[in-house]
Amino acid sequence: MASREQPDTKRSAIKLQAWDALDAHFKKVSKLHLRQLFADDPNRGERMAVEAAGLYLDYSKNRITDETLKLLLRLAEQSGLQARIEAMFRGEKINVTEKRAVLHVALRAPRGASIVVDGENVVPKVHAVLDKMTDFSDRVRSGVWKGHTGKRIRNVINIGIGGSDLGPVMAYEALKAYSDHDMTFRFVSNIDGTDFAEAVRDLDQAETLFTISSKTFTTLETMTNAHTARAWSLAGLGGDEASVAKHFVAVSTNAAAVSKFGIDTANMFEFWDWVGGRYSMDSAIGLSTMIAIGPDNFRAMLDGFHQMDEHFRATPFERNLPVLMALLSVWYNDFFGAETVAVLPYEQYLKRFPAYLQQLTMESNGKHVTLDGTPVVRQTGPIYWGEPGTNGQHSFYQLIHQGTRLIPCDFIAFAKPLNPLGRHHDMLLANVFAQAEALAFGKTLDEVKAEGTPDWLAPHRVFEGNRPSNTILAERLTPETLGKLVALYEHCVFTQGVIWNIDSFDQWGVELGKVLAQRIIPELESEAEPGLTHDSSTNDLIRRYRKLKEFLCKSE
Ligand code: F6P
Repeated sequence: MASREQPDTKRSAIKLQAWDALDAHFKKVSKLHLRQLFADDPNRGERMAVEAAGLYLDYSKNRITDETLKLLLRLAEQSGLQARIEAMFRGEKINVTEKRAVLHVALRAPRGASIVVDGENVVPKVHAVLDKMTDFSDRVRSGVWKGHTGKRIRNVINIGIGGSDLGPVMAYEALKAYSDHDMTFRFVSNIDGTDFAEAVRDLDQAETLFTISSKTFTTLETMTNAHTARAWSLAGLGGDEASVAKHFVAVSTNAAAVSKFGIDTANMFEFWDWVGGRYSMDSAIGLSTMIAIGPDNFRAMLDGFHQMDEHFRATPFERNLPVLMALLSVWYNDFFGAETVAVLPYEQYLKRFPAYLQQLTMESNGKHVTLDGTPVVRQTGPIYWGEPGTNGQHSFYQLIHQGTRLIPCDFIAFAKPLNPLGRHHDMLLANVFAQAEALAFGKTLDEVKAEGTPDWLAPHRVFEGNRPSNTILAERLTPETLGKLVALYEHCVFTQGVIWNIDSFDQWGVELGKVLAQRIIPELESEAEPGLTHDSSTNDLIRRYRKLKEFLCKSE
């Protein structure tokens, strides 16, 4: 029996029968070629596709049979997926190691909905913050909110890192077409001073507003950049402390720390500990997004999220987009031994989407123990990476086509361009369809030879094919579509986590480096030579850096 302190995580001990069935099945089907699977079923392309909430997922170019799908769906059932989905939506504390509810779905619940955490319906609080964000965004966008000298705000700089940066920057880039082009938006995250210096180089303090975004308001990078921003701002505004109120707002769960920093909590936009950093772009962390695209577009994005939430919660698994995508990734990760997933948006505005997904997927599912702390017996989270098409085609696609590794790909494309220019869009779409086709079907030795290729060259020109991919096709990249897309991957990550029986919502793995950095900072900065007690490599690097720093300082 679990102790009072220890959460009840019964399922971990149970070995699911579906894994064994899939192991046996894998031996039978692993060599099947997509050429054969398509030849055997001329309707496979239409059959293995699902459309929901305006997103069309073609998963036919995956190395699966109907039996594979059946067994994967059984795995989802045996993992208790439906109960876990319900537990999340009900606000149960499914983040067991931090004893927290996981309620990003509440951030996009319609006004009037009810989701209870610790006896309180949180939806009214969510909408109160949204209303406050709306009012503030309107005032900044219209010029009613003025800077300290009376000038209107033209520049917004979000300072944050991880989930307090990647969501805002990705959403800003993704929805640039909808943003106020008379304003400048920048994002500072790195503790490397260059990030801040370059962000403000051409800006006027009198026209610049900082949104300091940090769930904890203690993160080293964000606090350091925020203090630097404060000094920069004050330097340009005559050092008048009163100016801070006009040029700094905070987004956080930690009112005490915000106040200590010197930001009036009236200028603070709140969120809550049941919103994970990497699941927070639709909370107040999205303030810069709202200022950029306007409250109506922001709410349309929330509606997109909500539509996908409803789909995920209510749709049978065999037609459930996030569930299908998760099961397919588990299939490659745990049976084929694939180590990565490439996300390849054929939409320039989604250029930061793969970077955003890296935190969402890898901070969530990069875990080595199950919920009860025992080592996992299967590989967990794969490595997500990618670049927008067609750029990737002229860079790393070679390895996907002809390398020795299996890299499942998610292609993302839209039927209508946001910047129609001649034939560009048809060519873009021709490329995405061609890549998925080439990866799946390849080119045989016979085909290569039939083209008159000399024997010695022929092997080099063979494409094995059988490289799996999903294609996600939507009408157009809108705020609403972006919401659906992000929620699709959020719930895909959740489903994977349930299958692996891990806690997808903590991130203890980032702690050790933070603690060690705090220990090293004084060793780099102390006047006197510090007594170093690290390993010989770390000691030597510290000594070398100190010497170089001293030498370079003297020679300047
Ligand atoms: O270090 C990891 C992390 O805790 C992320 O999970 C989070 O998104 C990021 O740091 C930033 O944290 P905060 O918003 O509290 O500054």
